[in-house]
Amino acid sequence: MKKSILILLLFSLVNFSQIKFSKKEESKIDKLIQKMTLEEKVGQMTQITLGVFVKRESEEDEPMIDLNKLREGIVKYHIGSILNTGGAANGIKTWHKIIKSIEDIALKETRLKIPVLYGVDAIHGANYTRGATIFPHSIALASTRNKELVRKVAEITAYETKASGIPWDFNPVLGLGRQPLWSRFFETFGEDVYLTKEMGKNYVEGLQNSSLAENSSVLACMKHYLGYSVPLNGKDRTPAWIPERQLRELFLPPFAEAVKAGVLTVMINSSEINGIPTHSNYHVITEILKKELGFKGFVVSDWEDIKHLYDRDRVADSPKEAVRMAVMAGVDMSMVPNDYSFYNYLLELVKEGSVPESRIDDAVRRILRAKFASGLFDEPIPDYSRFKKFGSREFEKVNLQAADEALILLKNKDKILPLKKGTKIFVTGPTANKLSVLNGGWTITWQGNNEELYPKDKLTIVEALSEQFGKRNVTFIQGTAYDKDLNSAEALRKASSSDVIVLCLGEMPYCETLGNINNLELPKIQLDYAEKLAKLGKPIILVLVEGRPRVFHRIVNKCDGILLAMLPGMEGGKAIANVISGKVNPSGKLPFTYPKSVNGFTTYDYKPMENFDANKFECEYPFGYGLSYTNFKYTNLKLSPKKIKLNDTLTVSVLVKNTGERTGKESVDLYLTDLYGSVSRPNKQLKRFRKIFLRPGEEKRVEFKITNDDLSFIGRGNKRIVETGKFLVKISNLKLEFLLN
Ligand code: BGC
Repeated sequence: MKKSILILLLFSLVNFSQIKFSKKEESKIDKLIQKMTLEEKVGQMTQITLGVFVKRESEEDEPMIDLNKLREGIVKYHIGSILNTGGAANGIKTWHKIIKSIEDIALKETRLKIPVLYGVDAIHGANYTRGATIFPHSIALASTRNKELVRKVAEITAYETKASGIPWDFNPVLGLGRQPLWSRFFETFGEDVYLTKEMGKNYVEGLQNSSLAENSSVLACMKHYLGYSVPLNGKDRTPAWIPERQLRELFLPPFAEAVKAGVLTVMINSSEINGIPTHSNYHVITEILKKELGFKGFVVSDWEDIKHLYDRDRVADSPKEAVRMAVMAGVDMSMVPNDYSFYNYLLELVKEGSVPESRIDDAVRRILRAKFASGLFDEPIPDYSRFKKFGSREFEKVNLQAADEALILLKNKDKILPLKKGTKIFVTGPTANKLSVLNGGWTITWQGNNEELYPKDKLTIVEALSEQFGKRNVTFIQGTAYDKDLNSAEALRKASSSDVIVLCLGEMPYCETLGNINNLELPKIQLDYAEKLAKLGKPIILVLVEGRPRVFHRIVNKCDGILLAMLPGMEGGKAIANVISGKVNPSGKLPFTYPKSVNGFTTYDYKPMENFDANKFECEYPFGYGLSYTNFKYTNLKLSPKKIKLNDTLTVSVLVKNTGERTGKESVDLYLTDLYGSVSRPNKQLKRFRKIFLRPGEEKRVEFKITNDDLSFIGRGNKRIVETGKFLVKISNLKLEFLLN
């Protein structure tokens, strides 16, 4: 063990919430609660899906609102919230009609006139409103390493969601993407705790404090609390096993950071950790989130998950007991969402004394607090005249920038890229000519796979390449589908008359449990096809369009250029063509470790023994990797002072110079290694990053401040501590040690 003293840090997490609720507002809420009947209170805690109140012939049809059913929900059952689209994305005018029907009933036909809180999954832009700006998914946003840009993306998402009349977004996902098989990997900001903290905080602030128009913010909903993202077997909604130290070291901090940033709602993990279904976990919901982190907002269940405590997990022996368990664990609102069972059971439970009314009051206070803070009481139906920029060119430009910066150049043998003007390009593969593959799940429909519903004016990769290189120079034959041959023989014949092959492989859109897979490797048919193309002897540029890192080691050496696009959104085709043509200099960096083999997945912050003796850390591409068309030279790493005492701040600075011939953007990443510790220390940990812009020959000094928080970890006693001793700072290829004493 390290020779030094252990210092217990007092920055645990009490009262971090920056959102201060004024006494006046709190007393308004108290007065309202005093006026409410038990039925009205339990109704506030009930959330129903729009599908219950509308009819559609098919997913694409305009929804027909059944006002009698809606009235039953709002007047008879006093429901506090409605969610979802009940089908595919609605036109903005349809949303306005839906919201008006709902709020009119709430305001004109109920005793207390409490507005209904509408929520949707606006996961990468307002993806359930037609014509909205659909951004890259979070995994691609994390690759940009551009915090300001991510905040802007969230602000536009808030604006366009609010422009649809909707005040609540079930995003961001703050689970860490450390299980690459998981079908929701693309909804995360990647494997790293600090990157997720920073991106998550900016996303929450962007949604909740959108400055693009007056009252254009929406409530954020961090999810899925806690530990949902690391199912041991890789399948969505299956158990995670997370010891206390790891829980506090890795999985809790992004949520704690979002609480600090003022997030007002949270959704619970649909699954279980350590054998306890999270919807019944008092320790995690009430003790940690509400008491320790000081979360003042409300907790919503995930879809049908209170019922699942009975009918799936069997920790409750009746549906009514499931409701009792969840409410007593700290769940404030149930996404029931198809019936009024929760309402009926909870009423009975309170009346018979199994749930104290004080718990109900606490839940309702939290819900009303969020409703007040969202501006819903002041303006239940937004004045739509102030949302003139919905789906505008201005927002499209930000979207294109996000897609441009998200792309990661993984390989560029002999500077094959960018391709010269006039190059004859043969484009092929299952992801080359579809918009749905660039957008993935949560686009227009839940699964995102209805290509017919995609906007006609957006470009696929083939279309964007044709636009930039000229139709005459671009030939497309798909060759293979996702997992079956299509017309590969014909494609192979045609490919030989081109100068270069752009091979677009990857995944079809999916979401949640429907995206489960048993094998992380790209389907064999795609890899075989790549090998056959390689035999033609033409240079191959591989473009990977996928929601998770599908293993492709078999063909790495057959490709001259490799561009990782993940799910770059509606402008993804254009962005990919921009990088291939050189219009844009790539600047994305991997937010996860790209695995080389299906069972060889180790994150970059591995423990010493994972790379010791015969154990070798291996990956296809490391966390933080990403090439540019220019070169950046790092020099002059400086630490000041060289020795620090507890609570001192360390200043780290470095010079970065663009020594190439092109303007470029570069994320300057600072890693820290605690050299010796009483708990084995990770190989290295990302502690700061900043994206800078440099012209050829230009040099900038980048400075970071490191504090005790960055040096701390969860000690043997499962409490956050700092230990004295030696630390190593690494930026690019430079390293320096310093001492904390
Ligand atoms: C998902 C959530 C989502 C909810 C509402 C659930 O199936 O797990 O992430 O917010 O549905 O659509």
